[in-house]
Amino acid sequence: MSGRFDGKVVLVTGGSRNTGLDMVERFVREGAKVWTCGSSAASTSRGAEALRARGLSVAEAPGGGDWQVRAVPCDISDAASVAALFDAIAAESGHLDVLVNNAANQGLGHGGPLEMDPAGFLDVFKTNVFGGFRVTQEACRRFFAKQESRGCVVFLSSNTAVRTIRNRTAYCASKGAINSLVHSLALDLGPLGIRVNCCAPGYINTERWDTLPPEKAARRRFNCPLRKEATGADIAAVVAFLASPDAGNITGEILTVDAGCSSQHMPEDCDC
Ligand SMILES: NC(=O)c1ccc[n+]([C@@H]2O[C@H](COP(=O)([O-])OP(=O)(O)OC[C@H]3O[C@@H](n4cnc5c(N)ncnc54)[C@H](OP(=O)(O)O)[C@@H]3O)[C@@H](O)[C@H]2O)c1
Repeated sequence: MSGRFDGKVVLVTGGSRNTGLDMVERFVREGAKVWTCGSSAASTSRGAEALRARGLSVAEAPGGGDWQVRAVPCDISDAASVAALFDAIAAESGHLDVLVNNAANQGLGHGGPLEMDPAGFLDVFKTNVFGGFRVTQEACRRFFAKQESRGCVVFLSSNTAVRTIRNRTAYCASKGAINSLVHSLALDLGPLGIRVNCCAPGYINTERWDTLPPEKAARRRFNCPLRKEATGADIAAVVAFLASPDAGNITGEILTVDAGCSSQHMPEDCDC
């Protein structure tokens, strides 16, 4: 694989499980040194183990030799925790080239809008919207706006920002807010030479997908014109593209990666 990120430093939030692990691996395979975090010490360590099982060298403490991945716990909804992560990046790496805002609160189990606990709604926004904004603000203030080489940001939204799903009010609304955040940040940061883009996946094959009854998985695949969900590697490839010089003239873009799902008005067996 080419070294599009040789010598680059990348931060991928939410690299403790599922798609975040694939993003971390992709950037490492293309030459980057990658910082990542889960929300807690335990989940971050589990992620570090999973990355080691993929053959990557992962440091969990300062120093740590010649690492490819540096895993540090950080709750991105907490401003002090975010500041501590950036202190560590500044002290140990001294610069940052790419930020991937992948961490997300899925907002599962809230029920419908009538029964939802308002505190649960706020939690989702605190991580997905405020957290993504705070991490981006720190990356830009401390590194991208000051470095000659600038930097770029990739957010993870969802096709459910536009075509919503049932009983995920806070999650869908937070992903819609992320789409607007991407446009707004692209506008304000473009003149500084900082690109801000977004990958909006549809179904991704994660651990949660593995728990689906086979008939539900089959029904979801049938809901996609391409008849397949994305792998984490599919999403990682698109994120890497948006972060790479190949996308050097792209900013403010929401790139939907959903096997054609959003292109249809209704699935084939409902056509009338
Ligand atoms: N899976 C899908 O089908 C799908 C579809 C469309 C869009 N997406 C989007 O694609 C991205 C990846 O999805 P995924 O399914 O791989 O996500 P996931 O399995 O839910 O993993 C989320 C990651 O975010 C971290 N995280 C959550 N809250 C955090 C916080 N407050 N501070 C720091 N880290 C936090 C989690 O860490 P812990 O391990 O500590 O909890 C975990 O590493 C997400 O942005 C998601 O919304 C996913």
